[in-house]
Order: sequence, then structure tokens, then C-alpha cells
Amino acid sequence: MLEALSHDIVIVGAGMAGLRAAITAAEINDKIDIGVISKVYPIRSHSVCAQGGTAAMMRDGDSYDLHAWDTVKGSDFLADQDVVEFFVKKAPEEITTLEHWGCPWSRTEEGKINQRPFGGHSFPRACFAADMTGFHEMHTLDGKAKTYPNIKFYDEWFVTSLMIEKNAAAGLTAIELKTGEMSVFRAKAIIMATGGYARVYEFTTFSHTATGDGMTMAYRAGVPLKDMEFIQFHPTGMVPSGILITGGARGEGGYLVNAKSERFMKRYAPEKMELAPRDIVSRAETTEIQEGNGIEGPHGPYIALDLRHLGEEKINERLPLIRDVAIKLSGVDPVDEPIPIRPAAHYSMGGIHANIKTETSVLGFYAAGECACLNVHGANRLGTNSTSDCLVFGAVAGEEAAKFALSHDLRDFSQEKALAEERRIFDDIWGREGDERIPVIRDELRRIMSERVWVFRKEDELKSALNEVRELKERFKNTRVEDRDRQFNTGLVGALQLDFTLDLSEVTIAGALARTESRGAHTRLDYPKRDDENWLKHTLGHYTKDGPRLAYIPVTITKWSPAVRAY
Ligand code: FUM
Repeated sequence: MLEALSHDIVIVGAGMAGLRAAITAAEINDKIDIGVISKVYPIRSHSVCAQGGTAAMMRDGDSYDLHAWDTVKGSDFLADQDVVEFFVKKAPEEITTLEHWGCPWSRTEEGKINQRPFGGHSFPRACFAADMTGFHEMHTLDGKAKTYPNIKFYDEWFVTSLMIEKNAAAGLTAIELKTGEMSVFRAKAIIMATGGYARVYEFTTFSHTATGDGMTMAYRAGVPLKDMEFIQFHPTGMVPSGILITGGARGEGGYLVNAKSERFMKRYAPEKMELAPRDIVSRAETTEIQEGNGIEGPHGPYIALDLRHLGEEKINERLPLIRDVAIKLSGVDPVDEPIPIRPAAHYSMGGIHANIKTETSVLGFYAAGECACLNVHGANRLGTNSTSDCLVFGAVAGEEAAKFALSHDLRDFSQEKALAEERRIFDDIWGREGDERIPVIRDELRRIMSERVWVFRKEDELKSALNEVRELKERFKNTRVEDRDRQFNTGLVGALQLDFTLDLSEVTIAGALARTESRGAHTRLDYPKRDDENWLKHTLGHYTKDGPRLAYIPVTITKWSPAVRAY
């Protein structure tokens, strides 16, 4: 028998969406008992790395419709417009709520919350706290969440599976990393808020923990993943580490320059230049590099991000973190020299299929933040819309889960299934004595994804990538975890994360192979045009033992018909 802990609501993930959900649920009723499980300490969640800002309509001159239109156009018309309209109306409340909870937003001279321009937004609407926006938002949320006696934190617990009974959430299984023991968590409602999976790539802005665990758990439990082929490549990943150099650097006036000292964006987006959406800038940079206009460096050709004309005072005030990071990790002081950058995997537009209320196809199971796909971002997310998304829909998930928990009982769960999960983890993955090594398969996966499922894609490469990922799944069955201690077994954690990312890579590639058009961040060299007649629809990937089964559902259009997308 496994020990069973119980809460009214269990939230998996303590990043921005998870913490925001916990606070809302705790405020709705102090009798609601909430458990927040995270594989790291909350303020080590990847949300802390958000730099440039949080988008919201806060000023005269801007409007909900303008924010919504920018988001829809940025999405290459794949966003569901009813969800976008709701999102833009809720975002400003989140900014002021965080302010009331103590978030130290940067200020204008008159003392208002400052906002900076950002790619694809036609108004400066990114509220920011220097270039450490996520850090300050997360500290604000973490501090606030810890004031509620009805929120209990389970830090450094690794969730391995969801338990669904008769299409309703019953609980989940999790390992306490300190002891290496597995327990069952029972809950009336479960919120998945585990973030993205950009760590399937080598060159990424993402933390090593961003392995999409919650997406795979939902997928395996029968909840489809949506629009997984749409992966965002951020134009300014610092060379060689991939660490994010915020789009706020271009928002503050930074230039992108090639080996000819040319601001090449004038040939790709003459109006918006460096402030075009990320898919366009990343394609432009990749094209420049492929055409031999990259700057040669010890880590391959790169593009230069030039901030020198901003001056030291402005860099120190608005971009202190990236100056520090560039000096320490690239040996470049942006006051004196351009920063070497190139596109880096940054965000997953796809995720767990959920609706405007964050509900999934399983009763009592909700998803919010990057692990969810509520259709706000379509085929390409605008910078600074993701932290707003985490806040807005984290709050929605907290409210919906609280209402659900108040009107439902705990469901029975199957001890037999829980014990089978324990055997899968400890007897099979940890217990087997195979010849393969986890880091070798992980690096191989990252190489395949980086070489063939990157900014530009084509059929033969996607096909070979899919075959090779399937071979890796077979090889995974013959692995051995070296670490034989139960306590803090990071080798086992690495194996479980690899297991999750193999499924996610497979469904990503399958969706990309099937989508014979180019839209937003999904660029098919063999199908270079957007094809609204055949592809104005969302992809659903359903789990089967033999690989994903794809299906499609329509896009919701309210006000804005698909049009030519030029910047
Ligand atoms: O460029 C950035 O600061 C990243 C923002 C975002 O992904 O929204």
C-alpha cells in the first residue's frame, strides 16, 4: 500500500501560473485545503527567468482591441479570438493586483507603472521591473502565497503520473526526492502548471528543469495535446550558453547587425525592424547566417545585438541583468561591444488541450501556464504575453478548481494502479540493468530536434527525425540509471524527464510533418505559404501506444478575419 495524502486541490508546479492559481483558490474560501507540489523550490521555477515584461493595456492610446488584434495577427490567425478578448481584458487587473501585493514595477517620472515597446505590439504595453520582471513577480507571488495557512507546499517532490478514474481526476503519484519514496496524492481537483519543454533542444533559453513533465502526464492519461508543432525560437539567445537576452533590449532601442554591419531587419520587416514578432526575426537571423552574413566566432556564426548607442546609464537602469550576464557568461560588456546572439528555443505555443476556463476533457483536471494550450498564442506568441497568460489563466484555474472542489467529493483511486506506477518507476526504469546511458540518449534527442525540428523544416528531415526519436524510445527501454541511492536520486529524475520528453518530441514532430503549410513559428520550406483553406485549424495529438493519433478542431474567429501578415 502506498501512503495517500489528501487535499481539496492539488496544484502541480509552483511557477507563475501555479502560485497565482493557489492564491486565488485560497482566497475564495479559507476552508479549501490546497497542496502545491514542485520538483524545485518555487522561486527556482523557470518563471523566475522571465525578463522583459508582462503585457497589459494600461494607458490612453492603447485599447483592448489593439492588444487583441496584435495578439491575433502575431498568432498568424491561429489564436481563438474569444479567448484572446477575455485575456486582454483581464491582464490589467493582474498588473495592479501584483502591485498591491508589492511587485516593484519600474516607474515613469510621474510614478506610473512604466511600459516598454516589445516585438509585435503596436503600443508600448510591456509592464516591467527592469529586466528581471519574472524574478520580481515570482517573489511577490511566493511571498503572498506563503501567507495563506490553507496552502501547503511540497517542495522537491517529483510527480510521475495522473490518476484518472471514470474520466475524472482522482489523484496523482509523486516521489519525495529527499527520501525517494513514492506517495499518492488524492484531490478533488488537480491543476497542472508545470511549464514548457524547450529543454528538448540544445540551444535554449530554458532552465534544465523545463522538460514538459505535466504535458506528458496529461497526454498519457488521455488528455490530448494541442498545436505542439508550434515552437517559438527567441531571436536573442546569447552565444554560447543560450541564456536569454531579453527582447526588452530591442524594445529599448537595440539593433540587430550582420557581418556587413547592416541592420538587416529592414529587408524583412521594414516597418517594425527589430520589433517584428519573434518568428519573423528568428527566420531573418537564420537566413542571414545561412547566406553567409553571420559574424564568425569560436562557437559558429552569430548575429550582433548592438546596445552601445543606448549608453551606460540607460543600460544600467533598464537592462542591468543582461549586462551582468553578458559580462560574466560571454565576456562582453554591452556598453562597449555588441552581444553575440542567435535564435534559441524559447517557448511552446502548444500544450494540454484546455478551454477558456482552463478545463480539460477530464472532469476536475485543469491546466494553466505554458503547459496548457488555451489558444491565446496560436502559431506564434508575442513577447510578454506569456507572463500575462500565466497570471490571468492561473487565476482562472484557481477559481474554477475551487468551485469544483467545493461541490465534489474525493474520488476513489486504485491502489493497484498506484502500485503499478511504483513498479514502473522503481523496478523498471530504476531497476533495469541495460547498456544505454540516459545522458547519451538525451543529447541525441536534443541533436535531432536542433538539426531537423528547428526554425526551418522540411518533410524528409521531419520524417527522419520522427524515425530516430522512435528508435530512441526503444533504446530508452534498455537504459541503466547509475545512481543506486534512493535519496535525491538526480539520475532517476533525469531518466523520468527524458522519458517525458521523448513522447513530447514525437508528438511535436508528427504535428509538424502533417501540417503542410507555413504559419507563425512553423516554417515548412517545402510548403512556404500559409494555407487557410486547409490548415486554419488546431492539431490535437491523442496518445496511443503506437504513437500520436492526430485530429483537428476549428479556430474560433470573432472579429478579425485572416489577412496578410506584414510588419
Ligand atoms: O524577451 C523576453 O524578455 C522574453 C519575454 C517573453 O518570452 O515573453
